[in-house]
Amino acid sequence: MENEQAEKTVGLKEIANLCKRRGFIFQSSEIYGGIGSVWDYGPLGIELKKNIKDQWWKSMVYDRDDVEGLDAGILMNPETWKASGHVGSFADMLLDCKVCRKRFRVDHLKGDKCPECGGELTEPRSFNLMFKTRVGSVEEEAQDVYLRPETAQGIFVNFENILTCSRRKLPFGVAQIGKSFRNEITTGNFIFRSREFEQMELEFFVEPGQDEKWYEHWLQVRRDWYVSLGIREKKLRLREHEKDELAHYAKKCHDVEFLFPMGWSELEGIANRADYDLMQHSKISGKDLKYFDSVSGKSYFPYVIEPSGGVDRAFLAFLTDAYRTETVKDKNRVFLSLDKRLAPIKAAVLPLLKNKPEIVEMAMKIRDDIKGRYRVVYDDTAAIGRLYRRQDEIGTPYCVTVDVDSLTDGKVTVRERDTMNQERIDASAVKRFMKDNLDLQ
Ligand code: GAP
Repeated sequence: MENEQAEKTVGLKEIANLCKRRGFIFQSSEIYGGIGSVWDYGPLGIELKKNIKDQWWKSMVYDRDDVEGLDAGILMNPETWKASGHVGSFADMLLDCKVCRKRFRVDHLKGDKCPECGGELTEPRSFNLMFKTRVGSVEEEAQDVYLRPETAQGIFVNFENILTCSRRKLPFGVAQIGKSFRNEITTGNFIFRSREFEQMELEFFVEPGQDEKWYEHWLQVRRDWYVSLGIREKKLRLREHEKDELAHYAKKCHDVEFLFPMGWSELEGIANRADYDLMQHSKISGKDLKYFDSVSGKSYFPYVIEPSGGVDRAFLAFLTDAYRTETVKDKNRVFLSLDKRLAPIKAAVLPLLKNKPEIVEMAMKIRDDIKGRYRVVYDDTAAIGRLYRRQDEIGTPYCVTVDVDSLTDGKVTVRERDTMNQERIDASAVKRFMKDNLDLQ
C-alpha cells in the first residue's frame, strides 16, 4: 500500500510534460489554442502506439488460429446505430449549474449542489454521445450520419461476409483496431478520456451455452496480456460491473482496471453481449444473420464475448507503469522501463566525440548496420551524459557508444537502460547483439 501511494506521486502532469517535451503527445491544433480532448501523437508517440497495436494484433490474430481481421469504415449506414441501440441509449444524463454554468454527469456527482461553486443544479437531461456529420454535397439530399462510437458494429454488420469468405465454424472471432469518436462531456485526465481515440476490439462468436466458458477465457487472456508486456500485477485488477452500470447490450461485463495516477480506472472492458447485436441487425436490416450449425442442423444467433481495449489508455498505462526515478551519484535519473517490444526507439548510437570524423563514421556505420527492422537513431547533439539521460527518459533499451579506443581496438560500449550495465563488444558483433536481444516477436 505504501508503495502504491509512492508510485501515485508520478502525476499525470509529469507524464504529460514528458510526453510533450520528448515528442510523445501534443495537444491537437495547439497553435490555435487547441481543441478539447483531442491529442496528436508525435515522433515517439506514434512508435509506442504502433508497437502496442502490433502486440495486440499478434496476440489476438497471429498467435491464435480462431480469429480473422477487419478494417471497417468509420462512417456507416445510420440504420446501424438505430439497430445497435446507440441512437436510443448511448447517452449520459447531464445537469448544469445554474450559477457557474458548469456541466456534470449525474453518475459523477455526490450531492445535489454544484461541486464547483455550491450553486443550484438543473434537472437531469439525456445527452447522446455520438458525433453527427452529413454525407452528400447537396444540402437537401445530404444524409445525417454518425462517426462510430465503437468499432464493434463494423464487425457485426460484416458477420455474414466474414463467415462466408473464411468458411469458419464457431467459435471464432473478428479483430479490429481503429478510431472511435464520442462527444464526451467530462473529459480530462490527459489522454484517458478523449473525444477521438482508438479501440482494439475483438468480437468472439460462440454457441449459446458456451459463452460463460469463453467469457472466463477472455478475462484471463486479456489480463495476462498486460502483464506479459510488463505491467506489474499489483497495478491491475478485474472489477465486475454492477447491474445498473451495464451497457445496454451487455449481459455481463468486467473491467480490467489499472492504477492510473488519478486512481483505479478502466483500461479495458470485457463484455458478454449475448445475441443482442446480431439479433438487432437481423431485425432492422431484414437480413437473417443466424448461424447454421451443420452438426446439430440448427440455426441460431451466436453469442458474443467482446474484449474491448483502448489504445490510448493502454499507452497511458504502459507509460506510467514504466516511469521510474532513482538517485545515481547524487543525481536524479528518470527512465522508462518499457518492455523492449514497446520501446519507441530500440537502440541509439552515440559518438563520444562528434568532431572526430573517424568516430562519427564508425558510429554511423553501426547505425546503418542495425537499422531497418526497428527504429534506431544516431545522436550527437549533446555530451554523452545528457545523451544517455535523453535515451533513458524515452525508454531506449540500448545505447551503443563509439569512443577513441574504438578506433584502435574495434570495440564499442553497449549500455543497458535499466541496470546501466556497460559491456564492451566488437563493433562487428553489434548487429548480432541486437538480433539476440531485440528480435522479440
Ligand atoms: N464496444 C464496447 C465498447 O466500446 P467501452 O467500455 O465503451 O466499450 C471500450 O469502451 C474501451 O475503449 C474502454 O475500456 C477504453 O479503453 C476505451 N475508451 C472508451 N471511451 C474512451 C474515451 N472517451 N477515451 C479514450 N478511450 C476510451
